[in-house]
Amino acid sequence: MNKGLVAIILAAGKGTRMKSALPKVLHPLCGSPMLGYPLEAARQAGFQQMKVVIGHGAEQVCEAFPAADIEWVEQTDQLGTGHALMCAANALRGYSGPLLLLCGDVPLLTADTVRQLYNYHTHEDAAVTVLTAQMPNPTGYGRVIRAGEQVLQIVEEKDADEQQRQVTEINTGTYLFDAAFVLGALKGLNKNNAQKEYYLTDVVAAAVAAGKKTRALCVEDPTEAMGINDRCQLAEAEVLMRWKINAGLMQGGVSMTDPTTVYIDNGVEIGMDTVLHPNVHLRGKTSIGRNCIVETGVVVVDSVIADGVHLKAGSVIEESRIGELCEIGPMAHLRPGNVLLGKNKIGNYVEAKKSIFGEGTKASHLTYIGDAEVGKNVNFGCGTITCNYDGVHKHKTIIEDDVFIGSDTQFVAPVKIGRNSLIAAGSTITKDVPADSLALARTPQKIVPGWRTRKQKKS
Ligand code: UD1
Ligand code: CA
Repeated sequence: MNKGLVAIILAAGKGTRMKSALPKVLHPLCGSPMLGYPLEAARQAGFQQMKVVIGHGAEQVCEAFPAADIEWVEQTDQLGTGHALMCAANALRGYSGPLLLLCGDVPLLTADTVRQLYNYHTHEDAAVTVLTAQMPNPTGYGRVIRAGEQVLQIVEEKDADEQQRQVTEINTGTYLFDAAFVLGALKGLNKNNAQKEYYLTDVVAAAVAAGKKTRALCVEDPTEAMGINDRCQLAEAEVLMRWKINAGLMQGGVSMTDPTTVYIDNGVEIGMDTVLHPNVHLRGKTSIGRNCIVETGVVVVDSVIADGVHLKAGSVIEESRIGELCEIGPMAHLRPGNVLLGKNKIGNYVEAKKSIFGEGTKASHLTYIGDAEVGKNVNFGCGTITCNYDGVHKHKTIIEDDVFIGSDTQFVAPVKIGRNSLIAAGSTITKDVPADSLALARTPQKIVPGWRTRKQKKS
C-alpha cells in the first residue's frame, strides 16, 4: 500500500463553539473552506495520501473536497482525538512509514513548518515528534512537559496541575509518528481523564514508558499554530491569512494603497504593476493581469481580467472574461457569462449578462445588454436596452461590426442588425435590419403652432 507518505487530518469534531449549522471545517477562510489549508500544507510538504476523519456533517464535508488523493474515514461518535486516529486504523493497515497528523481546525500551519517537522522527526528517528509553540497565553492548550529534548508527556489544560499550567510551550495538535508504534500505542489508551475522552496526546507518555524517543519542534511563528474554535478566532485567523496573501502579492509586484482594506481570496492571481485601491474584493477563481488599475469598491468574482484593464469605482464583475485595455465603470455590473474581447468601454450604470463584445465596442452609459452577440466597434447610445425576455423565454440579439446605435433604442429580441447600419435614436427595433442601412422606428414628430398660449387662455 506504500503509494507515498500518509497524512491524517482530524475533522470529525462538531465545532460546538462556532454555533453554526455548517460543519466547522467548512467555514471559509479567505474564500476557501478551512479544511483545505491543512490538506494543501500536507500536499506541498510531500505527503501524497490523505486520510480525513469526519463525523459531524460528514456528507457535506466529503462533497466540498472531491480530490482523488483523499480517503474519508468515519468516526460516528466523537470520543476524542485518540479515538479519531483509532477509526483510521483500517485505512492505515500495512502502512509503516512516517505518519503526519494534522487538525482540520488549524489552518494557518504552513507547508514549510510541516517539512521542518518531517525532517526533524526522520533525522531524530523518534517514535513521536510533536509540533509545539510558545504561547504567551497558553490557556486551553495541552502543555508540553519536557526533560531536555525528550518529551515526557502532554497534559491537557483540564488535567493539569498549577505548576503544569505555568508551562507556555503548548501542543499545536500536529505530530509525526512512527506509524507502527502509534497504531500499537492507541490500543493502550483509556478515558481516565477530566474529559472522559481517548486523548491522542497520551501516546507520548506511552512512548516514554516503552523506552522510545519522543521529540518536540517549536514552531517559530506561534500564529501558525492557532486553532479555530469560535468565530472570533476565525476572524482573527482571517486577518492574519489576508495579510499573508496581500504581502505575497505585494512582494510579487502588486501595489496596494491600503492593504488592510483589500480582501483577496486564497488562490487569486494578480500581475505585476497592477494597483489596487482601498476596499477592493477579489473572490473565487479570479485572475487579474499586469498594469491594471482596480479602483475603490470594485468586486470581482470568478473572473479573468487581462492586462491593462481599468476597473473603475463601484463596479461588480461576475464570471466574466475581460480582454486587454478595457475600461469598466464606474458603477458597471457585468453579470455571469460576458466575454469582452478587448479595448471595450462599459460605462456607468451599464449592466450586461451572457453577452459577447467584439474588440473596440462601447456602451458608455445607462444600458442593458443581455444574451447579445455584438461585433467589433459597435457604439451603444445612452439608454439602449436589449429586450431579451418575453416572460417565458430568453432571446438573442445579434449586432454585427461597426453598427452605430442611437440613444434610447430598444432591440426586441430575437433580432439581428447587419454590419455598418445605423439605428436612429429612440427606435424600437422589432425586425432584422440589413447591413449598411438606416433603421428608424419612432413616431414622426408633430408641431402644433400657438398651442400653448391657446391652452393657457382657455383655463
Ligand atoms: C487538542 C489537543 C491539545 C492541543 C490542541 C491544539 C488532545 C487531547 N488535545 O485539544 O493538546 O493543544 O488540540 O489545538 O488531542 N476531533 C475528532 N474527533 C474527536 C475529537 C476531535 O476528529 O473525537 C478533531 C476535531 O475536529 C479537531 C481536532 O480533532 O479538528 C482537535 O480536537 P479538539 O476537540 O478541538 O481538541 P482540543 O481540545 O483543541
Ligand atoms: Ca481545537
